[in-house]
Amino acid sequence: MAQPMPADNPFLNFPYGPVRMECDANDLIVEGEIPKEISGSLYRNGPNQRFAPRGDYHLFAGDGMIHAFHINNGRVDYRNRWVKTAKWNVEDREGRNLINPMNPFDCDPDYSDFIFTDKDGLANTALVWHAGRLLALEEGHPPYEIDPVTLDSIGSWNYRGKLQTAMTAHPKVDPATGEMLFFAYMASGPFAADVAVHKVDKEGRLTESLMIPTPYPAMVHDFVITENYIVVPVMPITGSLDRAMEGKPPFAWEPDKGVHVGVIARHGGTADDVRWIEMDTSFVFHFMNGFDQGDVITIDCCLFDHAPLFPTADGSETDEARPFLTRLSIDLNDANARVSQTDVGKIESEFPICDPRFACRSYRHGWYTSLDGTLPSTLPNSSHFYNVIGRIDHQTGNTDHYSFGQSLPSEPLFVPKHKETEEGDGYILTVVTHFDTRVSSLCILDALNLAQGPIAQAYLSHYVPSGFHGLWRQAS
Ligand SMILES: [Fe+2]
Repeated sequence: MAQPMPADNPFLNFPYGPVRMECDANDLIVEGEIPKEISGSLYRNGPNQRFAPRGDYHLFAGDGMIHAFHINNGRVDYRNRWVKTAKWNVEDREGRNLINPMNPFDCDPDYSDFIFTDKDGLANTALVWHAGRLLALEEGHPPYEIDPVTLDSIGSWNYRGKLQTAMTAHPKVDPATGEMLFFAYMASGPFAADVAVHKVDKEGRLTESLMIPTPYPAMVHDFVITENYIVVPVMPITGSLDRAMEGKPPFAWEPDKGVHVGVIARHGGTADDVRWIEMDTSFVFHFMNGFDQGDVITIDCCLFDHAPLFPTADGSETDEARPFLTRLSIDLNDANARVSQTDVGKIESEFPICDPRFACRSYRHGWYTSLDGTLPSTLPNSSHFYNVIGRIDHQTGNTDHYSFGQSLPSEPLFVPKHKETEEGDGYILTVVTHFDTRVSSLCILDALNLAQGPIAQAYLSHYVPSGFHGLWRQAS
């Protein structure tokens, strides 16, 4: 019989805790009117632990579940499905949790080598739609293909045998060329000091792979591409097998290792050409956008002064970590260049995005989640949940925001009103979890007028666990 989730782990309880069902909910009740030009599917991905964990549970270790909101002509149909990975299947057969994906020394003895050979991973972090395939992503493994309508699990996808590494949860698609670039950290093996960078053309063919040694084995969550450069930030969440064998954290915050930002020419650059540029100690999960002008690279991101969610190397907890919107600049003309940092409006923020039609290029608008301090958090080292969606206009410095009060919005996603409209002329879609009713709704806002509040909301009768990332797939 399935065991209850531990009541003392906030990541296994509302609003993070798993829902225990897969379901279809057609023709959701809509408050307001969904603009008819919105036609396509919004997907969410996040950890949705199937069975009570056998030992320690980390938020990143839950089984992936995909939630889809298919929108057409003002109507919304919903469906959710677990990603039926190899781990999901063996645990389904045994009816209990066997594998701790974050720690090879915390698995059922019969599955002690499972995570060293597993190709599926958890598929629990993000999604990308590229060259006709919907891929569920989790940075430690290759992508996992999902049927975009039924959400059926198709299987691990390795670009016809060409992809020999994992894929980041944050691949970048260049809107001008359709090319997708991505990377993998610890690429040549567990805890290896390297990253692989891969390119896939708009037809879905893997065309180039570079293997790049890094200053130390690091967990790298996101990266940046511009028209002419690839930027890989090596920030000191380090990985160590020796540490894991001593019973200490396999992944830990080690600020003394420093920050090293690798810059590679996007066209024709080789592993030998990487330039490592140092930066003050800090940590970034997510980048908003980046662009180059001449030999100066500009990057916007949500910058922490230290990494959240990870202990130090001796296992002690770190203090509360808060991310602020920050502009980074790298002048490649300067032989002694360091990455410079400028605050952008002192905005505490996470899950930054841009209008994807303006990715990799000079741009104006960015959106993010933020907080107004009215929704108390249930998490350690976190005083309040992020209950605000905001926008920064980089051209004027003005901001615009909407607070959901006692409700928690997911990462915003931008949907243009029409293919050719001006930058920012569209809608922000977010899945909002309401703390009073414990249900979620798909919420639609005017992207350039967030403050006016929701244009429409489509309500579920259950909640979508607060996961990581989502995707908008425009109907063809
Ligand atoms: Fe992420």
